[in-house]
Amino acid sequence: MASFSSLVITTIFFKLLVFFVGISSAQLSPDFYSKTCPDLIPTVKYNVHSAINKETRMGASLLRLFFHDCFVNGCDGSILLDDTSSFTGEKNAAPNANSARGFEVVDTIKSAVENVCPGVVSCADILALTARDSVKILGGPNWDVKLGRRDARTASQGAANKSIPAPTANLNALNSRFNALGLSTQDLVALSGAHTIGQARCTTFRGRIYNENNLDDSFAQTAQTNCPSANGTGDNNLAPLDLQSPTSFDNSYFSNLVSKKGLLHSDQELFNGGSTDSIVTTYSSNPSNFASDFAAAMIRMGDISPLTGSNGEIRMNCRVIN
Ligand code: HEM
Ligand SMILES: *[C@@H]1O[C@H](CO)[C@@H](O)[C@H](O)[C@H]1NC(C)=O
Ligand SMILES: *[C@@H]1O[C@H](CO)[C@@H](O)[C@H](O)[C@H]1NC(C)=O
Repeated sequence: MASFSSLVITTIFFKLLVFFVGISSAQLSPDFYSKTCPDLIPTVKYNVHSAINKETRMGASLLRLFFHDCFVNGCDGSILLDDTSSFTGEKNAAPNANSARGFEVVDTIKSAVENVCPGVVSCADILALTARDSVKILGGPNWDVKLGRRDARTASQGAANKSIPAPTANLNALNSRFNALGLSTQDLVALSGAHTIGQARCTTFRGRIYNENNLDDSFAQTAQTNCPSANGTGDNNLAPLDLQSPTSFDNSYFSNLVSKKGLLHSDQELFNGGSTDSIVTTYSSNPSNFASDFAAAMIRMGDISPLTGSNGEIRMNCRVIN
């Protein structure tokens, strides 16, 4: 009898606990679509695989789209909206114009998902899954993606200009942007490790390779050969963010920083005599420590201000509101 009533009390306690924890994590959960779209996960994975098989860099481009979505008014698919007469979207904002890519791949994935479960899965969640699949396919960590985000009905070029950090940012500025979104300094360093894959345009690192002193001489010379010094010349020429292994998701980004071979000013800021040096050193010598911190930080980034419940919508076409 005593054990029966304590069982009842325990059960009620756990139900309440799940209820409150559910509210505080804004109802996102890895099995959100397990009944309504059981084929979602393999459908996205298959299509991310074929996009990366076609062009390896696409994994990097898809990962970056999720970051640029989450940092502008939360992970709400707003970056995917084309400009309209009623709002100027984020695609042509300063950090994205001539830079953000992968929108056609997202369209392909969205149509594949619409084919298996029409009107159910948000574009915001598709971005979260493509980011995870890209990292995993290129050799990085795996994690369970929390789902249940809904799509924004508007986008903001002004917010994108302000919220996405510039490659000229110093450590203080980077920290305050991340901290303002509930991400820690350690998250900043771990997430910057995404620059272990992908490419950057000359215009984003010219100032560093010609004018800064905290970089390796031979690295600067190599970077200069494909990035002319004059503004406006060769602006779109590409260089790998991680010169050692630009298509594999490993920890070499951090050993580059230790040897003063960070490509962007913002990269080298993380190892420039400041408070984040020790985190960079740890990640450079401990790949599994980086891998698990990166996965945890991606989950936290994916938690930024989602639209849930009856807010927002499930967009039919990721480029336009319903
Ligand atoms: C910490 C602040 C950050 C700054 C200032 C920054 C800046 C940049 C810049 C300037 C580029 C090159 C863009 C171009 O030349 O068109 C770039 C590329 C990239 N960024 Fe970041 N980034 C930051 C953090 C992140 C985070 C948190 C992620 C993901 C978790 C990320 C993922 C990427 C990837 C994968 C690329 C390569 C994209 C491609 O090849 O298409 N970045 N970033
Ligand atoms: C965003 O930045 C771009 C490029 O600097 C600029 O042309 C545009 O006017 C800005 N938009 C807003 C709304 O601030
Ligand atoms: C080149 O552009 C950078 C960044 O916009 C600017 O700070 C610099 O003064 C420009 N250099 C010249 C020589 O115009």
